Amino acid sequence: MKNVIISKEEIGRGIFRFNIEEPLVASKHRPGQFIILMVNETGERIPLTIAGSDPAAGTITIVFQVAGKSTALLSSLEAGDRIQNLIGPLGRPTPIERYGRVACVIGGVGAPYVYPILKAMRDAGNSISVFLGARSRELVIMEKELGEISDTLSVSTDDDTYGYGGTVVDLFREALGSGGKFDMAVVVGPVGMMEAACAVTKEAGIRTMVSLNTIMVDGTGMCGSCRVTIGGESKLVCCDGPEFDGHLVDWAELRHRLGRFLDQEKVAMNLYKKSIFDRNGIK
Ligand code: FAD
Ligand code: FES
Ligand code: MG
Repeated sequence: MKNVIISKEEIGRGIFRFNIEEPLVASKHRPGQFIILMVNETGERIPLTIAGSDPAAGTITIVFQVAGKSTALLSSLEAGDRIQNLIGPLGRPTPIERYGRVACVIGGVGAPYVYPILKAMRDAGNSISVFLGARSRELVIMEKELGEISDTLSVSTDDDTYGYGGTVVDLFREALGSGGKFDMAVVVGPVGMMEAACAVTKEAGIRTMVSLNTIMVDGTGMCGSCRVTIGGESKLVCCDGPEFDGHLVDWAELRHRLGRFLDQEKVAMNLYKKSIFDRNGIK
């Protein structure tokens, strides 16, 4: 049945992978695209990347981290449950070309986003070097899958519990310092991390693509919620992106716009937690 969760797995602390039956989206998906879903009929709309698709089986894969109310609610669903509604694929597919030596700098839950892109880039004849960063060891995800499609892979943790001790941007900067040469960089992760990585690639003269995670509502260009400024021009991430030239992004504006519902998000999460406590008789 459409939108039914086929399997659920916790692949990192608070990070879940769902396979979902969605034949139409599976048949149309291209790397770089995303869906927007509503967990239940009163739920808000949230965008999540399509981390993989199997057109023959009619399934898509999503990987998400619990960030607030909607992702917490989504994580409470089990295999066999149905997601209320889901639209996609949305956004422009990533242009897959032969760039040469591609560096991929990943932070947070960027891995599911880049996995299908890197697979396609590898198949197009590029060499792939992955720099995979997380705050701590239990948040490092998809290392094995990314290792299978890359020429080199190095991992960093901010708290030094696994791999290189430091941020993934420090790890990447050191790789460049010790002679690493790249023709293209793909940078995906939290805004601060992407901004820092873009400063490094700009100095090194490496063309850089970023995927922007703005707040989205309709996902089809009508609400304006996902507006960003790229090289002085207004763009909509949902239909002009989500990928843009990282050296042209107005990062300060993006940061400001991402934080505009923080108070409401906190209230929604607190009410959600209270409803769970009430249901379980916890004071
Ligand atoms: P909230 O507490 O409501 O919000 C937490 C933070 O998430 C906010 O401060 C804001 O920065 C962001 N956010 C909130 N609402 C939205 C919204 N409607 N649209 C976008 N961001 C929002 N996360 C993953 O874990 N895995 C993915 O594959 C993934 N893919 C994404 C693809 C795109 C194109 C975009 C734009 C975002 C993606 N995200 C992904 C981020 C994900 O959408 C947010 O974490 C989620 O919406 C948070 O909702 P919440 O109610 O749980 O948390
Ligand atoms: Fe509404 Fe992009 S999400 S215009
Ligand atoms: Mg929310």
